[in-house]
Amino acid sequence: MLIDRFGRRITNLRISITNRCNLSCYYCHREGYSSNDEMSVDEIKTIVSAFKKLGIKKVKITGGEPLMRRDVTDIISSMPRFDEISLTTNGINLSKIAAELKEAGLSRVNVSLDTLNEEKYRAITRGGKLDKVLDGISEAVSMGLTPVKVNMVVIDNFNVEEIDNMIDFVSRYKHNVILQLIEVVGNNDNHYDLSLIEKKIKKEAKEVKVRAMHRRRQYILDKAIVEFVNPIDNSEFCMACNRIRVTADGKIKPCLMRNDNLVNIRGLKGEDLINAIKKAVMLREPYWSGCK
Ligand code: GTP
Ligand code: 5AD
Repeated sequence: MLIDRFGRRITNLRISITNRCNLSCYYCHREGYSSNDEMSVDEIKTIVSAFKKLGIKKVKITGGEPLMRRDVTDIISSMPRFDEISLTTNGINLSKIAAELKEAGLSRVNVSLDTLNEEKYRAITRGGKLDKVLDGISEAVSMGLTPVKVNMVVIDNFNVEEIDNMIDFVSRYKHNVILQLIEVVGNNDNHYDLSLIEKKIKKEAKEVKVRAMHRRRQYILDKAIVEFVNPIDNSEFCMACNRIRVTADGKIKPCLMRNDNLVNIRGLKGEDLINAIKKAVMLREPYWSGCK
């Protein structure tokens, strides 16, 4: 079991498999910076297997856009068993590969979708086609890659007034699709304070669940489930962070918000790899640690 200096148990691994993306969303944090060098299926397998030995329960495959890799299904099927293997995608190429992803052992997907307005979608993604994403969500639900989470980054003066529409959209899939309302990170001009929205949704909720991870709240409404991802200035979020990241070029990234404490584990094997991971875990510290 991996436990950091702040007593946080690390149970989740996020592994980026590429920095490439077929969209270019202007606010994108790209899961932090790394080089364009990508690891092979075997290199990824070695790293993920070491994390499994160290008690990781859930794996999230990220990017860039992970479906840019032709061997994404090989990557999934090469992994050892976990409680969950999921993937976060922009959904553009999802519909045609959803069945293969399921077959390869993927449990579920998250799909980035900030607006249901075609023009706005094109503007934010710089050219993306909304109907492809909608098909992708639909196919993912049909294939049982559920619950699908729709990631809506809430941007000031852009899509705030679309939240109700988005709730109606996910409600078409009953509770098979969850809406995640996400606070913008690292982009102050676009930042919108989600607490106002949360207050309103809380009133309508028949039940509230607090996830262990990030203490994220999930509001169960009659027609939909809405989860809030609000890390900014939130020390509770950081104190309940149970994940560690690996970049596409094989470096451990102890925190999404920092790029100054990466640890290269590419090429390491056996005890060397295990020890390097343990050492990197000791570099973890809550990004927001003040009282809120
Ligand atoms: P699951 O609930 O397990 O599906 O994971 P997730 O919702 O965290 O995954 P996803 O990749 O869909 O990320 C959703 C949003 O959460 C994105 O905007 C991420 O930037 C944000 N996020 C995820 N993990 C962290 C984190 O550790 N720190 C911060 N600040 N943001 C995070
Ligand atoms: N702030 C918050 N979320 C972001 N994402 C990308 N950039 C940002 C940002 N600056 C989200 C995407 C995707 C997930 C991996 O991260 O919407 O769903």
